[in-house]
Amino acid sequence: MKLILLGPPGAGKGTQASGIVEKCKIPHISTGDIFRKNIKEGTPLGVKAKEYMDKGLLVPDELVVEIVKDRLLEEDCKQGFLLDGFPRTVVQAEALDEVLSEANMKLDKVINIEVDKSALVDRAVGRRICKECGATFHIEYNPPKVEGKCDVCGGELYQRADDNEETVSKRIQIYLDQTKPLIDYYSKKKMISIINGEQSIDKVFEDILSALGCEN
Ligand code: AP5
Ligand code: ZN
Repeated sequence: MKLILLGPPGAGKGTQASGIVEKCKIPHISTGDIFRKNIKEGTPLGVKAKEYMDKGLLVPDELVVEIVKDRLLEEDCKQGFLLDGFPRTVVQAEALDEVLSEANMKLDKVINIEVDKSALVDRAVGRRICKECGATFHIEYNPPKVEGKCDVCGGELYQRADDNEETVSKRIQIYLDQTKPLIDYYSKKKMISIINGEQSIDKVFEDILSALGCEN
C-alpha cells in the first residue's frame, strides 16, 4: 500500500504511523525523523535543517524533495510506503507526483488526521520521546508507566527542541498557510480520507484501518 499521512503538528501522525507500518508491513518515511537523525549525527544536511526546524519553519522544498526522491527509489519501497510529514507544500506534492509517475508507482490513499487547533499545542508541548527507540508518549494522554522512562525499551525520554509553546504555534500557522491546501489538492484527486483525530489513540487507529479497508 502506498500511503500519505497528512495532518497538523501534534495531530498524531507519528503515533498512528507506527501501527500502520506494522499492520501493512511497509517502510515508514518520516521527513522529520530523517532530519532529526541528521541533526543528531551532525551531518551537513542536519546543520542546515536545524536552522529552520528550531524556528518552526519548513526546510526548503528542494532539500526535502531530493531526500524523499532517493528514499522512494530504494528497493523496499516498491511494494509500498507510508509518507509521514511529506508532502507539506503544493510544490512538494507536485514533485512527488512526478517522482511516482517516473517510477511507475501510484498512490493508494491519503489519510488526513483532523484535530482542532486548540488541542494541538497541548499535545505537542506534553509530548515525550524515547532517546533510544523513538517511541512517543504524552505526559497526560499517554503517560509512560515509569516517569521519564520508555515502556518499550527503558530508554530515557526527552522533549523535542521545537515542542515549546511559541514554536508549536508558529508550526501550526505554517501548516494552515502552506500544508492545509493539500487537503484540497488530494480531495480533487478523490484519494483522501478524513479521520477524526480527537478520539482515543486506539479509536483513531481503528478508523484509519477501516478507511484503508483493513480489519484490526
Ligand atoms: P515533523 O517531525 O514532521 O513534525 P510535525 O508535522 O510538526 O508533526 P509532529 O511530529 O509534531 O506531530 P505528529 O502528528 O507526528 O504527532 P504525534 O504522533 O507525535 O516535522 C518537524 C519539522 O521538520 C518541521 O517543523 C519542519 O521544520 C521540518 N520538516 C519535516 N518535514 C518537512 C517537509 N516535508 N518539508 C519541509 N520541512 C519539513 O502526537 C503528538 C502528541 O500527542 C504525542 O505526545 C502523542 O502521545 C499525543 N497523541 C497522539 N494521538 C493522540 C490522541 N488520539 N489523543 C491524545 N493524545 C494523542
Ligand atoms: Zn524506547
